Amino acid sequence: MKGPEGFLNILPPRPWVTLAPMAGYTDHPYRLLCKEGGADFVCTELLSANAVHYGNQKTFTMMDWTDEERPVGCQIFGAEPEYMAETAHAAWTRGADVIDINLGCSVPKVLRTGAAAALCRDLNVLRPVLQAVVEAVDCPVTIKIRAGWDQDCINAVQVSQMAEEVGIAAVAVHGRTSKQGFNGFADWGVIGEVKRAVSIPVLGSGDVVSPEDAEKMLAETDVDGIMIGRGAWGDPWIFGRVKAWLLDARRLPAPTAVERLETLLRQARMMVAQKGERVGLSQMRMHAAHYIKGLPNASELRGRYMKLETLPDVEALLTEALDEAREWELREGPLRIEREPMRAAA
Ligand SMILES: Cc1cc2nc3c(=O)[nH]c(=O)nc-3n(C[C@H](O)[C@H](O)[C@H](O)COP(=O)(O)O)c2cc1C
Repeated sequence: MKGPEGFLNILPPRPWVTLAPMAGYTDHPYRLLCKEGGADFVCTELLSANAVHYGNQKTFTMMDWTDEERPVGCQIFGAEPEYMAETAHAAWTRGADVIDINLGCSVPKVLRTGAAAALCRDLNVLRPVLQAVVEAVDCPVTIKIRAGWDQDCINAVQVSQMAEEVGIAAVAVHGRTSKQGFNGFADWGVIGEVKRAVSIPVLGSGDVVSPEDAEKMLAETDVDGIMIGRGAWGDPWIFGRVKAWLLDARRLPAPTAVERLETLLRQARMMVAQKGERVGLSQMRMHAAHYIKGLPNASELRGRYMKLETLPDVEALLTEALDEAREWELREGPLRIEREPMRAAA
């Protein structure tokens, strides 16, 4: 089913707590862990419509979802309406539940092609791209935008209103401008303005790293859902903690050192199984740094981990670290590392 009804139909009751799409992170193993950790919705990394059009096999391998992670969105970017329609159709026929159009990426290489955040600078150029994608598939099409191009061009409301007109099912707003990149704070005020200006569901993105942040964003913006990106690094359980707090005012404990190390090992195995040892372990390093952060002997463990190049070596090191963490937790009790709220008073 298309449109907002289609989107509401595949998601649980609101407020949703979802995984923000992140290039280099939100691959199949990580999406699965976040789903298990309580995420209501997960989305792929951004896929290039040009690459799909020219038959780049690596891009097709990113359409790698499985039923366990549903509902799953496939995020695409591009500036050509025909290529975007073709890519959306390819993802939909491969079983994506939602097609998400990336209108927020501000990497110069992408902006030079007129795609992503650059498309939002001219609504007359953007409109046919959105229309082409909506017409190409029989599933909800969503967009992910930024607050605007820069402080002098904050146009998230105008973009969202136009998107609603052409049949977009939901909009996610990252409250920073393109020029801002990831600096400063996200402006949740703009997210609230979008929510008040459209009737389709709105998700807020930016600076939610704790249940308190999520509660504050909900209170300030009244959004239908919250996206968590960097707050889920090394912490795929955050979705469950945020939901328990928002829905039942229940505080779930943060994961223990042992749980973090066990999950790091599991994710490393999944990455190698899917991508092979060289690519899997290389991409795993940044995840590992986040799982290890705050553990006893973190810097030594991180230093040793980063040098490893084979799965048996990773398994040996993490088994040793797990034995130590189990002993430590038996002696001292569970070691839980809670992240400080970013935007809300603790
Ligand atoms: C490393 C990284 C990669 C990202 N890649 C994407 C992407 O592929 N598509 C997208 O829409 N947003 C992407 N984003 C933006 C996030 O989805 C999110 O909007 C932003 O990080 C703010 O949320 P946070 O404070 O919860 O991280 C990326 C962010 C980071 C940090």
